[in-house]
Amino acid sequence: MSCKKLYIETLGCAMNVRDSEHIIAELNKKEPYELTGELNKADLIIINTCSVREKPVSKLFSEIGVFRKYKKDGAKIGVTGCTASHLGKDIIKRAPVVDFVLGARNVSKLSKIIDKKHAVEIDLDYDDSNYNFGEYRTNPFKAMVNISIGCDKSCTYCIVPATRGDEVSIPSDLIIGEIKKAVKSGAKEVMLLGQNVNNYGKHFTSTDKKSNFTELLREISLIDGLERIRFTSPHPLHMDDEFLEEFASNPKICKQIHIPLQSGSTKLLKEMKRGYTKEWFLNRCKKVRELCPEASISTDIIVGFPNESEEDFADTLDVLERVRFEQLFSFKYSPRPHTQASTYSNQIPNEVASKRLTKLQKRHTEILDEIMDSQMGKTHSVYFDELKSGGKISGRSDDGKLFFVDGSEELLGEIKDVKVTKTSRGALDGTII
Ligand code: 5AD
Ligand code: SF4
Repeated sequence: MSCKKLYIETLGCAMNVRDSEHIIAELNKKEPYELTGELNKADLIIINTCSVREKPVSKLFSEIGVFRKYKKDGAKIGVTGCTASHLGKDIIKRAPVVDFVLGARNVSKLSKIIDKKHAVEIDLDYDDSNYNFGEYRTNPFKAMVNISIGCDKSCTYCIVPATRGDEVSIPSDLIIGEIKKAVKSGAKEVMLLGQNVNNYGKHFTSTDKKSNFTELLREISLIDGLERIRFTSPHPLHMDDEFLEEFASNPKICKQIHIPLQSGSTKLLKEMKRGYTKEWFLNRCKKVRELCPEASISTDIIVGFPNESEEDFADTLDVLERVRFEQLFSFKYSPRPHTQASTYSNQIPNEVASKRLTKLQKRHTEILDEIMDSQMGKTHSVYFDELKSGGKISGRSDDGKLFFVDGSEELLGEIKDVKVTKTSRGALDGTII
């Protein structure tokens, strides 16, 4: 008999991508599932949701409608992730075709609830940190590993503390063990995941050996066979000198850093409860550049936060101009339930926010074009991790740039020096030297 088929759609961040791998691993513990991209073939359909902005949440219910239409008889539908945590049983009330709802912090309960009709598990106190998930990785060459779950901040725009609960640091021996296993299976690169990775070590549930993020990085870099360490995301507030010195000097740490700005205005940063000022943010970026001029810096920016004036927005543009972020993830502010900012008066009209977003993105595109054009003829060390069509293989440089090179399977898992032969906004073409 052929094994059951799973159709899984993942929205949101890297944390969710890893949660989907955990979901697949948990299912496989009970019985083997094969992944399918065809809805009508699936025995189980899962949508792993995001609730950080309103759009993906409203999309959920239209998607459930599509699933209902195309699913085969007897196929189950599960809603997991942040919107599952946030809406809970209301999802089943609104869409009774949904068989189960499993919150972002409850993945390890999956095998217990999968056969219960209309089960809902969204406990936020549930501690999945001593987890013992099975091994499942979409890409064996690069492993994602959680170092913490939840969030201990209270940024006034953000729903995440309400969907993923309080922050818990995962014991370092579990992290090291998981990375060693991944390395044995062929991974040379690890991506450490946490809502605020450099807050690591503040919230252990046990009295085991404690380390902070810098110490954890040092420990991980001692793992034989591991060549590259990435992490996402550090919080600007916790970017102390010791951490930045380790980032710059440890050869295994990739020289790419995501530093979420959110706003360049100190006034708005205060209203967002981010805990830093424009000057602190600029100072931390300056320090990165001093210690590590080759590092690429990326960021997240929200425009149209309540009360954002033209001067506030000009501060954001000013930070963009000074730091010249290589990647920019920019969003229009979206009021979220359970957040303080959704109650603020002075919400910004949509047209104003849209205009600012366009302006910000346009300027960033110009900066990105200049950065990418300046790469022509340069050499980068590229780790190849994905086969592409047309005889191409792709990989990332140490500083996170996407490369396409002519090549086949034997390059997978290899690190090679590549000279840039063609530049474009999203990726670089090159030849191995
Ligand atoms: N509206 C718009 N963007 C948001 N983000 C988080 N909450 C909101 C919101 N309410 C953005 C932040 C965060 C990224 C993951 O999503 O920039 O860093
Ligand atoms: Fe990730 Fe935040 Fe979306 Fe949850 S709400 S999936 S933590 S981006």
